Amino acid sequence: MQMGWKVFIIFLIVSSCAKDNHSNNAVVVTRHHLATDVGANILREGGNAVDSAVAVAFALAVVNPSAGNLGGGGFMLYYDAKKNKTFALDYRERAPQAATEKMFLDKDGEVIKNLSLNSYLAAGVPGTVKGMFKIHDLFGSKSMNDLISPAIKIAKKGFELSAFQAENFNKYEKKFSNGSDSESIFINAERDFEEGDVFIQTDLGETLDLIKKQGQEVFYNGIIAEKIVADFSNNGGLITIEDLKDYRVFLKDPICGDYKEYEVCSMPSPSSGGVAIIQMLNIIENFDLSEYSHNSIEYIKLLAKVMSFAYADRSKYLGDQNFFNSPIEKLTSKNYANIISKKIKSGEKVSVEPGIYFYEGDQTTHFSVIDFDGNVVSNTYTLNTAYGSGIVAKGTGILMNNEMDDFSIKPGTPNFWGLVGSKANSIEPNKRPLSSMTPTIIMYDGAPIMTIGSPGGSKIITTVLQCILNVFIHDMNIKQAVCAPRIHHQWLPENTVYIEPNGISKDIIKNLQSRGHTIKTYGYMGVANGIIIEDDGLYGGTDCRDETSAIGY
Ligand code: GLY
Repeated sequence: MQMGWKVFIIFLIVSSCAKDNHSNNAVVVTRHHLATDVGANILREGGNAVDSAVAVAFALAVVNPSAGNLGGGGFMLYYDAKKNKTFALDYRERAPQAATEKMFLDKDGEVIKNLSLNSYLAAGVPGTVKGMFKIHDLFGSKSMNDLISPAIKIAKKGFELSAFQAENFNKYEKKFSNGSDSESIFINAERDFEEGDVFIQTDLGETLDLIKKQGQEVFYNGIIAEKIVADFSNNGGLITIEDLKDYRVFLKDPICGDYKEYEVCSMPSPSSGGVAIIQMLNIIENFDLSEYSHNSIEYIKLLAKVMSFAYADRSKYLGDQNFFNSPIEKLTSKNYANIISKKIKSGEKVSVEPGIYFYEGDQTTHFSVIDFDGNVVSNTYTLNTAYGSGIVAKGTGILMNNEMDDFSIKPGTPNFWGLVGSKANSIEPNKRPLSSMTPTIIMYDGAPIMTIGSPGGSKIITTVLQCILNVFIHDMNIKQAVCAPRIHHQWLPENTVYIEPNGISKDIIKNLQSRGHTIKTYGYMGVANGIIIEDDGLYGGTDCRDETSAIGY
């Protein structure tokens, strides 16, 4: 979703004096005001952070269809206050059992354009429904009925489209013209969608009703599974009943590292986010950032270099660890960070092997919840690109993901995100594609003090990094931290620094250019949100770049 430049610039200006959202008890922050309402109501009615998060996840599948989902997957970091422990929930999609390394190549070994993006082959086996049931089984307190009902109500009664959403549906009309049910749902046959149109999703409402009444089984081994599989087998897709039945959610330990006096915990494999965040913070720790003001030339040069190292390693070494043995300990060690820091300080030119570069995607969505007892949820989930594959499984209202494109589909050839790829992230049956999603919780003295996350494709990780530094180095409040202009470097294209419009001054741009950097003005990078815990309560911050909302009380 793109917003007009003028609007974006105004948002950035407004953000400089924007206040964060203060509360003494609990805060919910999501991409859509109706989902935030749902999450806040669950808390008011006595639910905990997990209850609220599950209700938000189902609600976003209705009100934020470009990224909220039942047909996709994601990651949740959950801090349980009673246990004083953080858990990482992996409900990432996985490749169907019939998937093969070369499934998106023609007989000459060339990539078949768009096959991994906009076809029935593009979908991985979805994890969201099982993920939400798993976390609820373990930590929820309210009935699943209570948590799914708000989403059902909105789907059946409809909700008013914002100008942004109406414009987006119209923009993606070509993508929805695919012969699947998305044509009747997301295309208005009579005229373009307009702001204020009431958007009703009857099939999705019925699907959610079935899940409410029959539980997750109906999605993975019942009538919904049968509908998905029938549509997929009629249209050349690979997902079978066995794929759905065998799908597993994993509860893992998060990956954690120390940055100064803080402990930063984030998502392990199959996300690259946690490893990259810790690696970058380890390197940055070797520099006295108090010498660099925010977005000064020295600061940007340092960040760009650090990002470049992390993304080079990401491309070569990271993939689903159940299939590829990534050197995680080395990548996240202080010793390795010291070696890289010395290279940066020496000014030595660093050569990099050809690897990956990305284009940003704004298709994922993040939400954060903290409840009265101090339980914390940091959740990022996605369909991959906006509206995923664009395919709605017949009779279900469920938009299916195109997460297969997050694999390296052919060595040496960039996929949608610019992935040139390595063996670490090649397609294998049941493997999960490498992700950049980085739901993160930061601890001080054994207790959480901040949660943060963002959509933004490859820019998720650098967005989260800068939000953390904005708070802990540049003394910004959470609102300022998520709204401040960002930069991005992703190793390749070499020496290329991405900036936001009006994000850094013309003098600094000139200075970077004179030192051999290519400056590319991008759209906006990520749509971050987070919550900070202070002595006097909770502060929620939503990004000024898009429609986001926070409720605290
Ligand atoms: N599909 C985007 C990501 O997982 O990073």
